[in-house]
Amino acid sequence: MNRLESYTAVITGAATGIGRATAKVFAEEGAEVLCADKNEEQVKELAEEIQQAGGKAQAYVLDVSKESEVTGFAEKIKEQYTTIDVLFNNAGIDQEGGKLHEYPVELFDDIISVDLRGTFLMSKYFIPLMLEKGGSIINNSSMSGSAADLDRSGYNAAKGGVTNLTKAIAIDYGRQGIRANAIAPGTIETPLVSELAGTDNEESGKAFRDAQKWVTPMGRLGDPREMATIALFLASKDSSFVTGETITGDGGLTA
Ligand code: NAI
Repeated sequence: MNRLESYTAVITGAATGIGRATAKVFAEEGAEVLCADKNEEQVKELAEEIQQAGGKAQAYVLDVSKESEVTGFAEKIKEQYTTIDVLFNNAGIDQEGGKLHEYPVELFDDIISVDLRGTFLMSKYFIPLMLEKGGSIINNSSMSGSAADLDRSGYNAAKGGVTNLTKAIAIDYGRQGIRANAIAPGTIETPLVSELAGTDNEESGKAFRDAQKWVTPMGRLGDPREMATIALFLASKDSSFVTGETITGDGGLTA
């Protein structure tokens, strides 16, 4: 407990899924969690839930793909907190789009804008808040960042970019004490996966989950909290000499 005592941590895409679970775990470990998401209602509800449980959390409405919103957010946080200790670039979208020659250009642009450009923008404007005392950047990539998934050229390209961008940050800022690492989740039970699969009551949802369980050596989907504890390791001093790394949490799927 208290591995993040007196830390300030920014988490994007905090309203649901892996971001939400991570915000709760970081708050339980003593961090003040700055929860940012484009979903205003759910991100405010999350901050209230953390506060009611005795933790420290604030909610911010943010679209990570919009440069003016990211700069405005970074300025606000600099005014209020001066520095931050952790940045978890977690916001992401995914959608199947068919084979590359059928893949809609707009979908490709949307996914690159949020998943890759959003990670770049947030890192670019928040690294200055880490230069004074160092910090930890955690990027939520995917198993699709190294092994491609069918009919998802936009997502595969974006996440491959996120994995390599992580290494670029690690080598650029190693001497400033800023570490950068990525997480590569397998199939985790979150709203993103429900959107891809449908609910478990529908035939498509059940078939999707059964197929994922079958290809995963551990025989089940992951829980968002199982990704949050990887993020905790990367955020805390427990990983003080780990940088430029990707930690896979996929129940053996890519083993
Ligand atoms: P989710 O859909 O539950 O959460 C994504 C969050 O990001 C939502 O709260 C959404 O409102 C927010 N968001 C989306 N676009 C945004 C934007 N432009 N600006 C700010 N916030 C935005 O999904 P999940 O599963 O928790 O995903 C989190 C991350 O994990 C994503 O980057 C995803 O690609 C990655 N991931 C998830 C896997 C899974 O199986 N669930 C597998 C591999 C990677």
